[in-house]
Amino acid sequence: MILVTGGAGFIGTNFVLDWLAQSDEAVINFDKLTYAGNLQNLASLAGDPRHVFVHGDINDQQKIATLLMRFQPRAIVHLAAESHVDRSIHGPEEFIQTNIVGTFRLLEAAYRYWKEQKGKTQQDFRFLHVSTDEVYGSLAKGAPAFTETHAYQPNSPYSASKASSDQLVRAYHHTYGLPTLITNCSNNYGAFQFPEKLIPLMIVNALAGKPLPIYGDGQQIRDWLYVQDHCSAIRRVLAAGVPGETYNIGGWNEKPNIEIVHAICSLLNEFRPADYHRLITYVADRPGHDRRYAIDARKIERELGWKPGETFETGIRKTVQWYLDNQNWLANVQSGEYRKWIETHYQGHAE
Ligand code: NAD
Ligand code: DAU
Repeated sequence: MILVTGGAGFIGTNFVLDWLAQSDEAVINFDKLTYAGNLQNLASLAGDPRHVFVHGDINDQQKIATLLMRFQPRAIVHLAAESHVDRSIHGPEEFIQTNIVGTFRLLEAAYRYWKEQKGKTQQDFRFLHVSTDEVYGSLAKGAPAFTETHAYQPNSPYSASKASSDQLVRAYHHTYGLPTLITNCSNNYGAFQFPEKLIPLMIVNALAGKPLPIYGDGQQIRDWLYVQDHCSAIRRVLAAGVPGETYNIGGWNEKPNIEIVHAICSLLNEFRPADYHRLITYVADRPGHDRRYAIDARKIERELGWKPGETFETGIRKTVQWYLDNQNWLANVQSGEYRKWIETHYQGHAE
């Protein structure tokens, strides 16, 4: 079996569901269930003995050590993190605690467990750390996309905390020989994404007739990857990645934010006719906002034969359809805590 951290979050949910749809290998899902974790996402796995959920914090090294001894997983896929850049600007502390200290505690537990393994079991063990393209910083227009050897230049508390965790993972391989893998992926979108992130926020606000808040001039560029493509890339790296290596994962889909929002408005108009474009509202920019990210995903394609399966057009259509079909899920996650975040962060610009 494998141990997945953060398996009740957005990518974790998709990863666990896809994994169990494609293999009978069991998953231990270790998650703290912060505001971003939601067990309702995994309701379809109720009663499935291949999915074992354990509530816990990656900072609890003893609990992880006990879990590892009990279940003897052959790999750890580490997704647990604080993941929202805006929240890291309002309050960086949790990001340091979970993303840096928590990753350190997880690495310690993994290393001690791995050291006790023998022969092929030890040789085949993998610690796969899921990271982000944001560690590389911001690109000028026209500059070549981030490769795996691009210098780290994180600009937000979130990206700095992810960069630190990447460096710790790298050090555990270099110093102790722990068979680690690192993936740095671009912006994901798809089912189960918490509606604080750009795409789901725009969908829910548009449906409610609320303003669609665009930071600054809306010309910031991101590379967008459909979440199930990210999951297939992680599976591929886990199966065939070389220990100690980093793999960049991207969708070859660079787009300015404003274009993303127009695409969502047009799709919604097709499914539920209304003029959503008129809701677009320019608001104050994110402090330190990175202008452009772009991923050069040739290494994973060349060495591991992975390529994204969806284009932005096919992926965004499925995504908008999913949110329209899952209004109950949306209503449930837009709880008191969610409303408080929207009120504090947007101060009337998204209500
Ligand atoms: P998310 O915020 O939706 O989910 C994070 C999950 O981690 C939640 O279930 C939460 O409960 C859990 N968690 C948080 N702190 C924890 C702790 N201390 N112990 C145990 N569990 C904890 O995040 P996501 O968007 O699914 O991202 C998952 C991972 O992928 C993160 O490491 C993120 O940095 C990385 N990533 C995300 C994207 C993206 O576009 N969303 C892109 C590249 C990389
Ligand atoms: O690049 C990978 C990263 O993508 C992941 O590591 C992060 O976990 C994930 O949250 C995401 O970070 P971003 O900051 O790029 O995602 P977000 O959805 O918050 O914002 C996408 C872009 O849209 C960004 O340029 C900011 C802008 N934006 C966002 C929101 C929430 C707006 O213009 N208005 C908004 O209300």
